[in-house]
Amino acid sequence: MKNTIIAPSVLAADFANLQRDIEMVNNSQADWFHIDIMDGVFVPNISFGMPVLAAINKHAKKTLDVHLMIVDPDRYIKTFKELGADILTVHYEACTHLHRTVQAIKAEGMKAGVALNPHTPVSVLEDIIQDLDLVLIMSVNPGFGGQSFIENTYEKVRKLKAMINAKGASVMIEIDGGVNNKNAKALVDAGVDALVAGNFVFSAADPIATIADLKEITSK
Ligand code: DX5
Ligand code: ZN
Repeated sequence: MKNTIIAPSVLAADFANLQRDIEMVNNSQADWFHIDIMDGVFVPNISFGMPVLAAINKHAKKTLDVHLMIVDPDRYIKTFKELGADILTVHYEACTHLHRTVQAIKAEGMKAGVALNPHTPVSVLEDIIQDLDLVLIMSVNPGFGGQSFIENTYEKVRKLKAMINAKGASVMIEIDGGVNNKNAKALVDAGVDALVAGNFVFSAADPIATIADLKEITSK
């Protein structure tokens, strides 16, 4: 039986009832909180920043999986550690010196992740894969919740899984964007370890049951 990580994306929460939604995730079978930080430069949207993350950290009782969609993430690595990030993921497309950035994240005691935009091939990670804890494959163009899943993602997952196996590396594969109960199982079968779900969870009539459903579907 597999234990697929389910990571509800707080971007889709009700910000006027943030504590309520955080408690919902605490009380659910979800494993991580997925936190999207957008700067309006790397992506055409601004989400929320440090004070909101501090508020989330005060109440969240699970792993904080922080996804930085920002330029020059090196400037904030220490800050995100102080704000409670357990996993810090930067975008390949935003890092000129990716190896240095990854080492800096690990030096702060966090797990290091690298995210790939839909058009970026997994092959760009060949020479750094062994240094990573997680690869996040974007299955929508980053910037907004509620978009539809890009089908080419399955092929990218299979290629990445083959690369990880060939190198004997121990790296988790996370998928972010348009995840729902229709694509979750096929993603796990292709090699995915962690699923981010925003709107599918928070727009559901019963988010706790929806999370339980995702867990159940992906455990077979
Ligand atoms: C998109 C974000 C995602 C988003 C996913 O840029 O990185 O984490 O919140 O939301 P859904 O699941 O609604 O596509
Ligand atoms: Zn994300």
